[in-house]
Amino acid sequence: MEAAIVAGQGEGMDGSSFVAVQLWAHDFKAFDSMPSEAQDNAIGRRKSDNEELKDAPASSHVKRTAQESFDPAAFVVRRSMPWADGMRGGLNFVVFGKSFDAFEAQLKRMVGAEDGIIDALFKFTVPVTGSYFWCPPMADGKLDLRALEL
Ligand code: HEM
Repeated sequence: MEAAIVAGQGEGMDGSSFVAVQLWAHDFKAFDSMPSEAQDNAIGRRKSDNEELKDAPASSHVKRTAQESFDPAAFVVRRSMPWADGMRGGLNFVVFGKSFDAFEAQLKRMVGAEDGIIDALFKFTVPVTGSYFWCPPMADGKLDLRALEL
């Protein structure tokens, strides 16, 4: 609730959420051609048992996005879904935040804008869309659109 839902900004804003959606298209051939250790290191978790690697490289996805490692901490709520269309497929990444700040801080670090280290995810996947949404709060069972003066 604290990470994903706006609070303390007044009526019309409190209870709302900021949502970012990105369709990522995976290069499955590229991923399959990586040795299993490189696959594990790209995520920072072992594929065979999902254990987090203690010595994962700085480029691993979980090291890049470790939420408590940001200042301020960049907590979000992720609700992604895999997608497939014929031979194409990947991840429909969906993230909820009390603002877009945490998401954008994570994304900046993933692309190497902070320290030049690029998230190893980019070795086999790329975002092909990016959309931002604001989900209004509810009041009396209806959408509360006062923030939009509606
Ligand atoms: C194809 C795209 C992506 C894939 C396949 C992917 C996959 C994963 C996996 C496997 C984990 C570890 C399991 C878990 O903790 O749930 C993870 C963690 C995470 N990912 Fe992603 N992710 C993708 C894109 C993104 C993007 C675009 C962001 C944000 C800009 C992001 C943010 C995070 C965060 C915050 C964590 C948890 C880190 C922590 O432990 O605090 N991911 N992701």
